Amino acid sequence: MSRILTALQPSGILHIGNYFGAIEPMVGLQTTGNENLLFVVDYHAITVTQDPARLRQNILFAAATYLAAGIDPKQTLLFQQSRVSEHTELAWILNCMVRMGELERMTQFKDKAKGKGESVSVGLFDYPVLMAADILLYDTDVVPVGHDQKQHVELARDIAERFNKQFGKTFIVPKPEIRKQGARIAALDEPEKKMSKSAASEKNYISIMDDEKTVLKKIKAAVTDSQGTVRFNESRPGITNLITIMSLVTGKTVKEIENSYAGRGYGDFKIDLAAQTTAFLSPLQEKIRGYLDHPDALLKILDDGASRAKTIASKKMEEVREKIGVKL
Ligand code: TYM
Repeated sequence: MSRILTALQPSGILHIGNYFGAIEPMVGLQTTGNENLLFVVDYHAITVTQDPARLRQNILFAAATYLAAGIDPKQTLLFQQSRVSEHTELAWILNCMVRMGELERMTQFKDKAKGKGESVSVGLFDYPVLMAADILLYDTDVVPVGHDQKQHVELARDIAERFNKQFGKTFIVPKPEIRKQGARIAALDEPEKKMSKSAASEKNYISIMDDEKTVLKKIKAAVTDSQGTVRFNESRPGITNLITIMSLVTGKTVKEIENSYAGRGYGDFKIDLAAQTTAFLSPLQEKIRGYLDHPDALLKILDDGASRAKTIASKKMEEVREKIGVKL
């Protein structure tokens, strides 16, 4: 039995990149007899300023999305990171073992801090260490994530190895699991970049809550190229990304999609892609709303998940305190 773990920030918009990169793979892994942990990383979210009322809503929205996607709380511990204080406790200990230079090399930090000089929060800089604590606390074997989180999981591996070397075998060295298709959904308006919820333009992403009209508008505006053929080719990132999305929402292979659009242009393809995306998202949206209409049931699931997670985490922290010499 493997322990599988992943997490998601409650930052308001969840887009189809989050869905296909991490949520759907986690749902798929749930049925294989593994032990699964899934949480909403609210303490990661506050590394940038958050409005408290909105943050509360976003935490519930992220949990509702997981459940709507097919996470079964009986098979998966679903919880809120801040409810298990061992995450931040372990992060502090790991902080004392991680070098500034390691964090300075994190590409996500470099991207997010660009142009902000000294004004970025220390939390943003330290974000990958909290993520390493999230993972190592639970003796995680596999971490399903999108491509953009690979470097962070690799840092968690390095930290686990370093700790084990210094204090004796304590942590499992986790492996990232990055699916072949869907781990790097590109931005619609800048297909050389990843789809991102913090993007300046709404044309960057398809939110999982976008309605039919919005999806059509965004897909019609998606940047492609002047070749006009529906062909998958890494050197043509715009159309390749749209074909990937088509494949993910319909379950068809890239070949099948290319064949059915042979001799037809981007116009037809985009209209069909918008319709298929909406057909995929509508039932999901309905389920999300269903969960959000019953916040008490949602809170009960999160409470139950937190108390089960806390049992695992507190045991691990006892071991860590003993290893580093603070347990008397
Ligand atoms: P977050 O909230 O930014 O993203 C959640 C998941 O979505 C994936 N993702 C994408 N996948 C494909 N294409 C995209 N364009 C795309 N954009 C995002 C991310 O890779 C991620 O898997 N640091 C993490 C949250 C985290 C975490 C953890 C993850 C905190 N602790 C422990 C795993 C294990 C983050 O900010 O993800």
